[in-house]
Order: sequence, then C-alpha cells, then structure tokens
Amino acid sequence: MSLQQRVTVKVPASTANLGPGFDTLGMALSLYAWIEMKPSEQTVFHLYGDHLNGLPTDRSNLIYEVAQMVFNEAGVSVPELEISMFSDIPLTRGLGSSASAIVGALAAANALIGSPLSDDKLMDMATSLEKHPDNVGASLYGGIIAAAWDGSRVDHIRIEPHQDLQTLVIVPDFELSTSKARNVVPQQFDKSDVVHNISRSSLLVAALASGRLDMIQRAMLDRIHQPYRASLVPGMTEILEHAVEHGALGAALSGAGPTVLTLVDRHDPRKAELEQYLMETMGKEGINATPLWLDPDLDGVTVLSDQDERPFLDRIKGEVKA
Ligand code: HSE
Repeated sequence: MSLQQRVTVKVPASTANLGPGFDTLGMALSLYAWIEMKPSEQTVFHLYGDHLNGLPTDRSNLIYEVAQMVFNEAGVSVPELEISMFSDIPLTRGLGSSASAIVGALAAANALIGSPLSDDKLMDMATSLEKHPDNVGASLYGGIIAAAWDGSRVDHIRIEPHQDLQTLVIVPDFELSTSKARNVVPQQFDKSDVVHNISRSSLLVAALASGRLDMIQRAMLDRIHQPYRASLVPGMTEILEHAVEHGALGAALSGAGPTVLTLVDRHDPRKAELEQYLMETMGKEGINATPLWLDPDLDGVTVLSDQDERPFLDRIKGEVKA
C-alpha cells in the first residue's frame, strides 16, 4: 500500500430518475462538494458551509464510516483521519447530497491508499449504501448514467450529455426526506403504467444518447412515482404539465424531490421567461425557492492535484458558489 499524506476530491451533485427512469437514470450537475482526507493521530473533522451544519463530527460521520469500508475492503488499516469538507449541495432536496458524500468518501479513501479498488467496485459499494444506483452513478462517473442493480452488482452505461443541454433547477426552501418520498410510491403497478414507463424511459435513453433533444418532452413522462409525490411538492404538477410552454425541453421531479428539474437548450431565447414562470408557480403555492442554472457535470468525482500546498479552503476558494 502507498499511503498518501493528503487527498482532496471534488464530487458533483446529481439529479435522479429524469422522469420515467425511477431508480435507473441519473445525471451529474455542476454543483459540488469537496472532501480532503489525511491520515492523522486522532480523528477530527472540519465541516464548512451552511449545508453541513449539524452533521456529526465524530466517527459516526458518514464520510468516516465509508472511508473505513474502503480500508476494510482493501485490507489496510488507517484508523484515524483528519477530514475537511465543504459543500454547495443542499441536503434533502433531491440533488443527491448523500450520494455525493458517499462517492466523495469512497474516492478520497481509495486514492489515499493508492487506488487499489476499481471504479466499478466503488460503484457497487456506493449503490449498496445508497440502495439505488442513479445518484451515485452520476456522481462517480459524471454525465448521464443508465444503471441496473441486482442487489450486489451494478451494470451501467454512461451517456455523454448533448453539448446544448443545460438545466434549471428550482430548489424549494423546505426539506423532504427520501424515505418519506419513497413511502408514498406504491408497491405494485397496473400493467399499463409499467408499459408506459418502460417505453418512455427507453425512449428517453435513446433520445439522450442520440442527441434528439426534440423528443425529451414526450419521453420524460412518468406514471410510477411523480403522481404519488405530487402532494408533497405543491406546484410540481403544474410545472410538469406547462414548463415546455415556457421554453423547457422537459421537466421532472429531481430525484425524490422537492427540487424540480427542467432540461433546457442552452441557446433557447426564453430562459428568463422559464425561470420567471417556475418561480411564480412555486410562489403561488407559498413556496420560497432558489433557481440554479446548472450544466451537466462531465467528469464525475475527481482527485485534485496534490501539488497545491495551500490550506483546504484556500484551494477550493474561487470555485465555490456560496
Ligand atoms: N431514485 C430515487 C428516488 C432517488 O426517486 O427515490 C432519490 O434518492
């Protein structure tokens, strides 16, 4: 094992499902968290940014636990860690914050011990922790991921996003836990709804892979989770039905919500109109929200150069949004 003195990773947020691809499709977004990990005499955390307030600063922290899983898997011992983290990714809003923390921790711990584990192994480990592959796959590989999980192994294919594809996400100021949003999804479905989603999800993958942006609107329709989650996200149903009339290529609930995602052609002249429509629709429901124009992230988690000797926050300053 070649133990590094310090590793820093940058890991993207993600949006899951893209409408019909429940627990199957994900796309990485240009909103990031950074994790620095060092072997240490004693475990200590430095958590920065509003989105990490209140998270544990002892060994029960997810980052520490996930790092130890990597060391166990690789058969090495690095019991004490100094961990620094900054995140621009809001928690429990449907932008994959827990997936990015898991992927960031896996990648940082693996790099710290000389990268003995393959990306595919990290993908299997991340999915076992997260229980679905869509967010973790996007954060790990970047771009768009189509993935299937059999309970132990993930099969996945990465799709390069079309260069004109951009997103506008509307992030409500209330939290919605993934477990609450999963509990409202039924256990069984009518055959017609299953066929509806299989056909749209297949069409969406074909449209994204072949750059048929014109097909996105009709391919993003879903009948197996969004209708059941609608009551948890006021304004969502209207946005899903009408966002395309204001310039969106298509719209979906982002992951388990409450963030709403629109896909947009970055050259579309109606971007300001779309943002105004989305904010007003949320506003009519009494919901304060933040609009974020985000690009698809193409790289997934990346290990930053270790040549830069400056302290953690100085190294990432200039990149952070907050
Ligand atoms: N596919 C998941 C869901 C993403 O929709 O519940 C949430 O993490």
